[in-house]
Amino acid sequence: MINAETRVCCLIGDPVAHSLSPLVHNRGYQARGLDYVYLAFRVKEAAPAIAAMRTLGITGMSVTIPHKTTALACVDELDAEAKEIGAINTIVNRGGHLKGYNTDYDAALKALSEKTPLRGKKTVILGAGATALTIALALKHRGSRVVILGRAPAKAAALAARIGAEGSGGFDRFSEIGDADILTNATPVGMWPKVDELSVPASYLHPKLVVFDVIYRPRTTRLLAEAKKAGCKVVYGHKMFLYQAARQFELFTGHTAPLVQMGQALTRALKGDEGVTISDRR
Ligand SMILES: NC(=O)c1ccc[n+]([C@@H]2O[C@H](COP(=O)([O-])OP(=O)(O)OC[C@H]3O[C@@H](n4cnc5c(N)ncnc54)[C@H](OP(=O)(O)O)[C@@H]3O)[C@@H](O)[C@H]2O)c1
Repeated sequence: MINAETRVCCLIGDPVAHSLSPLVHNRGYQARGLDYVYLAFRVKEAAPAIAAMRTLGITGMSVTIPHKTTALACVDELDAEAKEIGAINTIVNRGGHLKGYNTDYDAALKALSEKTPLRGKKTVILGAGATALTIALALKHRGSRVVILGRAPAKAAALAARIGAEGSGGFDRFSEIGDADILTNATPVGMWPKVDELSVPASYLHPKLVVFDVIYRPRTTRLLAEAKKAGCKVVYGHKMFLYQAARQFELFTGHTAPLVQMGQALTRALKGDEGVTISDRR
């Protein structure tokens, strides 16, 4: 029961109404019997919302689009990965001292390494945005050889130079996938409601590939469906989502995350996706 002692955690972003974070975090608090509550706030500006963590004594904050970069300047300290990535998705308030983290980094590594070793493997990443950067950096740190392909080749090249990737190019370089071990989609292509879109022609998929799609709505994207047909191992985006939330849970509460219960809440919600209308998701 919520009371005067209840610890408050929250999400800030714009939009947030579609977010599954409140569901997953609150299920975790319930499973561990913790007197915590997790809310979502749609905010236009990150700075006043983050300042309110100190004013209101908010314990933990998740940060999503479009605030992941601007939030960086609003905290007192950054962990090493967040500093290198230049974006945070998590803030922990310890007695008024705010520390920023990027839990997507570990989450992507955990999701991928459940299906494949990473050292020495060639990974082609599609997209050159924030998630592509986070995953590329994480894989580079684990000894993978990374090639970044983006619809804007100059942006892909800039990202590749920043992390010391093996190569980069535009979408005329899909042939890079031919000898790759891992293919990661870090674009929104195929995300609900445009579920028929494919970020790479299915003809480039081959059975030696592990295919990771960061999109988790729908749970099985067209890319993952085509990858299964081609005999590839697949890594679901909802696993990354679950692991980044679990790490946040641990940072916010100091307790081990109840992965099973949090995961069940997430998969139940994703299974219900087919019946959800556009207006429900806003
Ligand atoms: N599973 C998880 O836990 C998790 C965590 C974080 C993010 N995500 C998902 O990751 C996806 C990317 O997020 P982000 O924060 O990285 O976004 P972002 O910074 O906006 O980057 C998106 C990238 O995709 C490219 N892109 C966008 N539309 C495209 C299209 N139609 N065709 C080809 N490329 C396209 C963009 O190209 P330009 O550079 O040319 O604009 C950009 O490089 C989102 O769908 C998000 O929901 C999932």
